[in-house]
Amino acid sequence: MTSSIRDLLRAVPALTGTAPSFDLRTAPDDPVALFLAWFDAALAAGVAEPHAMTLSTVDAEGHPDARTLILKDVDRLGWAFASTRSSAKGHQLAVHPVAALSFWWPAQVRAVRVRGPVVQASAAESAADLAARSAAAREGVAEGDWAVWRVVPEQIEFWQGSADRRHLRLAYERRGDGWSHAVRSGEHREDAG
Ligand SMILES: Cc1cc2nc3c(=O)[nH]c(=O)nc-3n(C[C@H](O)[C@H](O)[C@H](O)COP(=O)(O)O)c2cc1C
Repeated sequence: MTSSIRDLLRAVPALTGTAPSFDLRTAPDDPVALFLAWFDAALAAGVAEPHAMTLSTVDAEGHPDARTLILKDVDRLGWAFASTRSSAKGHQLAVHPVAALSFWWPAQVRAVRVRGPVVQASAAESAADLAARSAAAREGVAEGDWAVWRVVPEQIEFWQGSADRRHLRLAYERRGDGWSHAVRSGEHREDAG
């Protein structure tokens, strides 16, 4: 008898990676620094395509949409990605310039979520990004259609799974020029597995 998809899904292991040690008491005040540290660790651990992320947007009717993109840059301004303005995401961002990003690095049982308003980079920066792409990747992109955008973070959550199910959530929130952060664990253990 063939298994149902539900049985197959139940049999697939989840949270199989190995979480590196992470001391909450030493979490930096700046979430960008923590993101870069986690990204470096993912790269060093050989996580495949750690720069692939889900970009979620909202359309004109308020319906969510999501797709996979490549992270282009992270700096004090935000998390950068690039695409065509004529794409669905381009239209959605023109109407609702807000987005969420999510990263999942299975080998380390780590995930990061970023939310905030989205700003479009200058025409010069967008043109430079397009120029840096391969000829094949540039093909078919109309003049002026390529754009770089940044999610300007308002909220960032770092999540790390644990074998004993004491999953860890560290939530940063923008406070004026700086950040506050708080641990959200224990009471949210239903969140995974
Ligand atoms: C791993 C991966 C990376 C991708 N990177 C990009 C990217 O950087 N920019 C882009 O426009 N589309 C990228 N795509 C394609 C998008 O997922 C999507 O199909 C496309 O941008 C159209 O999305 P939209 O119709 O929602 O605008 C990528 C897809 C995958 C699977």
